[in-house]
Amino acid sequence: PDCVSHEVSRLTGQLRTTAEPKTLHTLLRPEDLSEMLAAGTKESHEKAENTQFVKDFLRGHISRELFKLGAVALYFTYTAMEEEIEQNRDHPQFAPLYFPAELHRHEALARDLEYFYGKDWESQICCSPVTQRYVERIHEVGQSDPALLVAHAYTRYMGDLSGGQVLKKVAQRSLKLPSTGEGLCFYDFEGIHSAKAFKQLYRSRMNELDLDMPTKQRVVAEANRAFKFNMEVFNELEEIGKTLPKDVVDGEFPAHGEMQGDISK
Ligand code: HEM
Repeated sequence: PDCVSHEVSRLTGQLRTTAEPKTLHTLLRPEDLSEMLAAGTKESHEKAENTQFVKDFLRGHISRELFKLGAVALYFTYTAMEEEIEQNRDHPQFAPLYFPAELHRHEALARDLEYFYGKDWESQICCSPVTQRYVERIHEVGQSDPALLVAHAYTRYMGDLSGGQVLKKVAQRSLKLPSTGEGLCFYDFEGIHSAKAFKQLYRSRMNELDLDMPTKQRVVAEANRAFKFNMEVFNELEEIGKTLPKDVVDGEFPAHGEMQGDISK
């Protein structure tokens, strides 16, 4: 039962039969946490997609400096989240969602930061005030209300698995990053071959959690809170972007291209 690939193929096998109304019914129950989260965060998702920072990023309007600061914010966020996930790996309200080999991003982000900042990357980065509030909330939840950790894991990992490949390509093109994937490890889930199948597995695991309705509702509320933290981080990055010198603001122009070698990192 712990073999992920077996469970994925069982689930995808199950999905191929969704034409059968009975199976469809059992797959989509409104009281399932996965359905409550998808419906209950739809508005937040739309708002997040429409923040200026995200829109600029999608258009390829991202400078190397801002992208690096985004990676720093993600590093502190995932470090906190994965610390709390480790602490709660055996907690019955989180254990079924424990997929360190497939999902965890701490190592990937550390590699990206080493690429961008060099060997002494740790001494060069710091956690912004907005990211700090997000990090504090993750620790609070992990320590005093672990069921709500589900909301934080859902908001980040499901989002990364959904939009990651598009964002990777955009970043690669606009920042002229090497095709070897250096600087973009965050977007590579090496342990996941089909994002679609893994998301189905993750949804079914969320639905297996033994949570009563009031707790499920609190998880949805916490997921909306997680979206809000992410938007606040985007807005903070957007503001920082405005203060950067004009010539580094628009990543489309190769003024700081790879031709200059290491100085531009
Ligand atoms: C799901 C697009 C930004 C979190 C999705 C899906 C798409 C998408 C197409 C559906 C994938 C599927 O059903 O298999 C986008 C685009 C974005 C964006 C175009 C920005 C322009 C974000 C952000 C977050 C986020 C900023 C949170 C930080 C999620 C989550 C899901 C998701 C949690 C899973 C929804 C569910 O099935 O329950 N996104 N997204 N997304 N996205 Fe985004």
